[in-house]
Formats: sequence, C-alpha cells, structure tokens
Amino acid sequence: MIIYKVKNEEEMGKKAASILAAQILMKPNAVMGLATGSTPTGAYQQLVKWHQQGDLDFSQVTSVNLDEYRGLAGDNPQSYRYFMNEHLFSHVNIDKSRTFVPDGLEADADKACQAYNQIIRDVGGIDLQLLGIGPNGHIGFNEPGEVFEKETHCVDLTESTIRANARFFDSMEKVPKQAYTMGIKNIMDAKKILLIASGEAKAEALHQSLYGPITPQVPASILQLHPDVTVVADESALHWMG
Ligand code: F6R
Repeated sequence: MIIYKVKNEEEMGKKAASILAAQILMKPNAVMGLATGSTPTGAYQQLVKWHQQGDLDFSQVTSVNLDEYRGLAGDNPQSYRYFMNEHLFSHVNIDKSRTFVPDGLEADADKACQAYNQIIRDVGGIDLQLLGIGPNGHIGFNEPGEVFEKETHCVDLTESTIRANARFFDSMEKVPKQAYTMGIKNIMDAKKILLIASGEAKAEALHQSLYGPITPQVPASILQLHPDVTVVADESALHWMG
C-alpha cells in the first residue's frame, strides 16, 4: 500500500487526478471505477482541465460507478448519474453509452443488481477503482454490518450516512433511504484501488481502515487485503500518522 500525505484538499485532488490520468495514458481503453461525493470533485475538475487542454483523451474509456440511489432517475439533480454528467462526463469526450451507473429507476432490486454485476463482467472488470470513504468507514454504500456483501446489492442507508448526505438535499426527508451499490467483491476485484480522503471527519475511519482489524464493521478495512492500493489523503485526514 502506498500512502501519499498531501497538504490539503486541493493537493489531494491534483494527486488523485494524476493517478487517474496515468491509468488512462497507460491504457487508453481502461475501465475506470468512479465515485461520487465531495471528495473526488477536485480530481474530476483537473481531469476536465487536462482534457480541454488536449492532454487527456477519454474516447476509449469505459466507466462504472460504485452506486446510485434507489428511486432516483438519472435526470434528478441529486442522482449520482446526474452528478457524474455534471462533474465529468459532459465535459470530456467519453462515449456516454460506455458510462455505467446502477439503474436507480429499476424497482426490482434483484434485477437491478444482477444487471449491474453483468455489466461489470461484460466490460472485463475494473482497471482502477476510485473510492471515497464515509466517516463510518463505508466504501460505495457498503455500510458497517455483520458480513461483507459480495456483489451489487440494495442497501438501507444508515442514519449517519443519511445525515451526512442530507447536505445535498432540501431536507432530511428527501434523502433516499436505499441505494444500489457494488459489493466488496466487485471492488476488491479491481486491479488497482485509489482511496482518497480529506478532512478531520475522515481521520478515524481512515486510521481504522488502514491499520485496524479487518472487519465488516469497518468496510474499508478489507482494502488491507488488496495487493495494489494507493491512498491519497490530506494532513487533517492523516493527522494520526505523525
Ligand atoms: C460515492 C460513494 C461513497 C462516498 C463516501 C464519501 O459514490 O460511494 O462511499 O465516497 O460517502 O463521500 P464524500 O466524498 O462526500 O465525503
């Protein structure tokens, strides 16, 4: 595991973008596993900039996102599909038909999840998976629990995640209570993992994940078993590292 401790959120974004761009330069038809949330926005901004300068070509890239709220359509501004379009896809030359996000509008959870597992298989697996981390150690929407869920599944979001996500909605009531998310095996099957974190609120989860016991109570702790993980985090998230 390589850990890059950078000064602040901005540096984290730049470093993460460099690693994502390096993957695309090394393998132009890479399958990129992508994440939403506040943490990756700086990296996406930098990727867009490099694309606009003519330095980064997404024409052969495929993407698979970690998760989507159940019940939200792709044109709902709170959906993760919308987020990805806004922050990345609409600003680069990626073929949108090769950008995948779980289908939030598929009411049949089994169908939605099986279809997504099939997509991940069909694209040949993930070359590089970008991950944020929840303050409770979740990755994707794999919340703390009794077992590691293996493949794409429907989750009931925990109170703490609903509270953390409420900032994007008008009220707590509007935050969806369920999501479709890749499972731990889908994530662990990625050839490489890039975990990014910034801010004090992530410090404890990051510490537990990187050095604590491997347990489904801290889903990101499973990453200790992955052979190729890079962590980029800022000083506040890594203040315990000395
Ligand atoms: C997003 C995702 C989540 C976030 C995590 C951190 O697709 O799967 O696991 O990465 O909740 O969110 P932010 O970056 O908003 O702190």
